[in-house]
Amino acid sequence: MKVAVIGLGYVGFPLACAIAKNSKNEVVGFDLSEEKIDFIQNGKAPIEDEQAEKDIKEVSFEVSLDDSILEGADIFIVCVPTPITDGYLPDLGPVKGATKTCAKYLKKGSIVVIESTINPGICDDIVAPLLEFETRMKAGVDFDIAHCPERINPGDPKWNVYNIPRNVGATTLEGCKRTADFYRSFLDAEVNEMATLKEAEATKIIENTFRDINIAYVNELAQSFDAMGIDLQNVIKGASNKPFAFMPHFPGCGVGGHCIPVDPYYLIEKARHIGFDHRFLRTAREINNSMPAYTIKVLEKILTEKNKVIKEMVVGVLGVAYKPDIGDKRESPALKIISILEEKAKAVEVFDPYCLDDSTVQSIDELLEKADAIVLATGHSDFKQLTVDDFEKHNISCLVDGKNIWDKKSFENSLIIYKGIGRG
Ligand SMILES: NC(=O)c1ccc[n+]([C@@H]2O[C@H](COP(=O)([O-])OP(=O)(O)OC[C@H]3O[C@@H](n4cnc5c(N)ncnc54)[C@H](O)[C@@H]3O)[C@@H](O)[C@H]2O)c1
Repeated sequence: MKVAVIGLGYVGFPLACAIAKNSKNEVVGFDLSEEKIDFIQNGKAPIEDEQAEKDIKEVSFEVSLDDSILEGADIFIVCVPTPITDGYLPDLGPVKGATKTCAKYLKKGSIVVIESTINPGICDDIVAPLLEFETRMKAGVDFDIAHCPERINPGDPKWNVYNIPRNVGATTLEGCKRTADFYRSFLDAEVNEMATLKEAEATKIIENTFRDINIAYVNELAQSFDAMGIDLQNVIKGASNKPFAFMPHFPGCGVGGHCIPVDPYYLIEKARHIGFDHRFLRTAREINNSMPAYTIKVLEKILTEKNKVIKEMVVGVLGVAYKPDIGDKRESPALKIISILEEKAKAVEVFDPYCLDDSTVQSIDELLEKADAIVLATGHSDFKQLTVDDFEKHNISCLVDGKNIWDKKSFENSLIIYKGIGRG
């Protein structure tokens, strides 16, 4: 079969590599980004991911900025972004655009698989009508639509595109089986056939909203426990030895990435359209969105203890990326932290070894030298190495550890006021 992957980012590129590596199918890739296509054509991974960097050396497949590369494809796999607008509404532009591109080359018997995260109903209400209108063919009769939501966690040393179990739903049960068998041909993981497309769509959304809600819960606890002087980190550790029905989640300065802070809005909006208010999800989003501001509040509070005010301080921010040891800054809370500080502080200096374009200085030392106070926004390994001495040497008076990476006890006998998020 000829398999076309549309969108060659964090999801599409590893997937295309896996199909090329482990199956006999011909793989082609299409993307609108000239930079990504250039990278792949020059034998470089277009994303920051160890596995992808290994894979690109072992496989080769044709990619293009020209959609005619999709001609003759039997399976189209759509891996384009599903972002939100500034007003927190789903932006289905990329999914609609990619669907129209597939329609140009769709033939009888083909399958269009959506891997992008979408809310229940998108395949039936948007993808199917678009394909039917553009091709004059009928979904479930002439071609199939399937949803196989991606669960990849870039940078994860254990779980990758090859071994993460999958769920598949499709317009017809036969289409579902064909799609599942195709995934089984190159994955070393369970591929579960679901009864309906909507259930497959909903599965991914509840996984990510589950995470958002649980993080919001500990972020709310962090705020009340800070006020009560209880270290939530220790409490979670204590609760975690319960062998059933407790799953630890940890508080921090906010939630970032392309999934957790975005996907809940797809479900919230879908529910709103049918007249249902997902209050719980909205509240979780509000709490998690408020954490950057809370982090700055913590900083202002400890500055007051030192008789200092934020507007006279140069604040150094350690980290821009949304998670450790990568340079992905999509929806990163660090960006909000920086923008709040730009309003409030005398000056803001930023350093992230993985995001040098967003850094105002070139090293941790230079940041510590320039700053009066520090906010840590990303738990990079390089930052974990820092000790009390490093901060004392540079006369840092206040330190907010937005990811709770340092040992708070180590600051007890120093002149530095250390505060984590929810550490009492
Ligand atoms: N990144 C993750 O960890 C992750 C995990 C699971 C699911 N997802 C979901 O997978 C989807 C893709 O996410 P991603 O992280 O790979 O995004 P990404 O931004 O890394 O890659 C998407 C690619 O699609 C391309 N693109 C956009 N519109 C296009 C179009 N009309 N035609 C062709 N190419 C187009 C972009 O240029 C980009 O290269 C999203 O729905 C996301 O929620 C992401």
